[in-house]
Amino acid sequence: MSTVLRTEDLRREFGELVAVNDVSVEISSDEITSLIGPNGAGKTTFYNLLTGVLEPTGGQIQLNTADGFTTISGREPNEISQLGLSRSYQVTNIFEGLSVLDNLRVARISKHNRSMEPLTRMRGDDELYEQAWEMVELVELEDVAEEVCENLSHGDRRKVEIAVALATDPQIALFDEPTAGMNPQGTDYLVDLLSGLNENTETTFMITEHDMDVVFALSDRVIVLDQGAVIADGPPQKVREDDRVTRAYLGK
Ligand SMILES: Nc1ncnc2c1ncn2[C@@H]1O[C@H](COP(=O)(O)OP(=O)(O)OP(=O)(O)O)[C@@H](O)[C@H]1O
Ligand SMILES: [Mg+2]
Repeated sequence: MSTVLRTEDLRREFGELVAVNDVSVEISSDEITSLIGPNGAGKTTFYNLLTGVLEPTGGQIQLNTADGFTTISGREPNEISQLGLSRSYQVTNIFEGLSVLDNLRVARISKHNRSMEPLTRMRGDDELYEQAWEMVELVELEDVAEEVCENLSHGDRRKVEIAVALATDPQIALFDEPTAGMNPQGTDYLVDLLSGLNENTETTFMITEHDMDVVFALSDRVIVLDQGAVIADGPPQKVREDDRVTRAYLGK
């Protein structure tokens, strides 16, 4: 197994409340890992710690980068993203007034810290066009590539968000409820798409989902949080049968 990300006794308190309680996990590049747990378990807080949106009150986070394991806890979100950890937000991370292609151009260049460049220059950059177009093809948005995002269907927007998260070729991408708001067919389609993208990119996928069918369809490994602590960790089938997991969900 090759570890892409690890946390050691990661902790976050809000006053008296321990939202993330000494979580130590290693995420392997060979697996799709899902992070699940009842409402308020600490999943979003955990993601916020990983991405630098929140500072831990204890422990640390290390990302496997080109220079080996690098401590990312305490760094700024943009620095963490440039080191190779990206995230798709449940709340959208796309520019409504820009086309799909332009969104991907902007996402792509943020990798090289060039994101303050004017769009007119980006549009004249052939290499950037090719890279953005490759992402468009990966998520099957060819038909709407020039459309401004505010005109897209909900499903197509989700695909743009996924493409934006992958545009920087991150080591690891965190997907926060990637199928939220989709109907059953749309959900099945996105599950297939994500699983294909996982095969066709070097990026390791980590997913948070409330839809258990999606969790079981996509994941090789499931980590269950309850009241900030890991209560189960293993293959989906094993986690599904774990008494502590059943109790944690029934208790809510
Ligand atoms: N900024 C904050 N200030 C105070 N308490 C917070 C803050 N953010 C989260 N919490 C609390 O921390 C706990 C964990 O919340 P978190 O949002 O991480 O849970 P979650 O697992 O993402 O839940 P959900 O499934 O509902 O999205 C909750 O009790 C929440 O009220
Ligand atoms: Mg949450």
